[in-house]
Amino acid sequence: RTPLTLLGIETSCDETAAAVVRLRADGSGEIVANVVRAQLDLHAAYGGVVPEIAARAHVDLLEPAIKQAMAEAALDFGDLDGVAAAAGPGLIGGVIVGLTTAKAIALGCGKPFVAVNHLEAHALSPGLTDNVRPPYLLLLVSGGHTQLVVVNDVGSYTRLGTTLDDALGEAFDKAAKLLGLGYPGGPDVERWAARGAPTIPLPRPMMGRPEPHFSLAGLKTALRQEAMARAPLSEHDVADLCASFQEAVGDVVRDRVTRAMDLFEDRVSADTELTLVAAGGVAANGRLRSALGEVAAARGYRLVVPPPALCTDNAAMIAWAGAQRLARGLTDDMGTPGRARWPL
Ligand code: KG4
Ligand code: ZN
Repeated sequence: RTPLTLLGIETSCDETAAAVVRLRADGSGEIVANVVRAQLDLHAAYGGVVPEIAARAHVDLLEPAIKQAMAEAALDFGDLDGVAAAAGPGLIGGVIVGLTTAKAIALGCGKPFVAVNHLEAHALSPGLTDNVRPPYLLLLVSGGHTQLVVVNDVGSYTRLGTTLDDALGEAFDKAAKLLGLGYPGGPDVERWAARGAPTIPLPRPMMGRPEPHFSLAGLKTALRQEAMARAPLSEHDVADLCASFQEAVGDVVRDRVTRAMDLFEDRVSADTELTLVAAGGVAANGRLRSALGEVAAARGYRLVVPPPALCTDNAAMIAWAGAQRLARGLTDDMGTPGRARWPL
């Protein structure tokens, strides 16, 4: 039943997003419109996302975002083959705004509705811009999640590793906060790191452990101690602390992904083309990308990282995951609830 054209809606955190995506008959994807309205200025003063503020802002921002996406696509709702929304995991107030809006549009124009898992959307996002097909090894690193997952097929995932405490993006955000940088922290830490050198000794938690799990709280604590020992911090100190933090993250990721590759290769047939995919907001980080490039080259994997705009939260990935599900006849009914927690 391809091609399929879907409207996707994403409101599970602090981006209000609407997009139109096409699944072509040959299985490839096309982004027809991709609108993201960040709420950063609303939350920056609090150093993090305030759920109630986010939910109310989604109410204000979503309708114009949808109208803009449909106008850019030059489509009416009646031209769509389906409507998809992130039904979780995420901040439940925001999830309900997007989910209810998507249901209303689907109901109003008699189109199928697809409830998408936000993590599944990140996991499948590389297929939208690159010719990647399961099975592949996925590193999903965002503000809320740090997972190494085997994507067996659409709807079939095996988690190999996760974080025992903070998510990687959360670690970047906390590092930025304790160094007095802006929110979200990742891009700021990366900018400062570019001006410094990784000269400050920081731990590499979990390195060498057999299970490819992560632990990041200790790294953050060590960074705080190194920062306190240097207070008041000069710009030079901040740059070196950021560079050292990023270097430690790069080493940990390289080690953990190598271990996950061992487990991945045990699971797939010998003729599988080995592919490593990175997704989630932290995959926008240049140092992380280069670390992944090193492991991929060493182990003969093709590395696929979506462009930065598709790594951070967006609705194109929701529409794309919705199209994959719809193509397989997987639709949802109007009673589908939003879910704050929803493991892959
Ligand atoms: O996937 P995402 O947009 O939202 C979810 O958490 O679902 O990821 C946001 C996270 C934030 O923690 C942010 O600090 C981090 O991704 N991030 C980065 C970079 N850009 C965004 N972390 C490191 N380096 C970056 N360039
Ligand atoms: Zn996300």
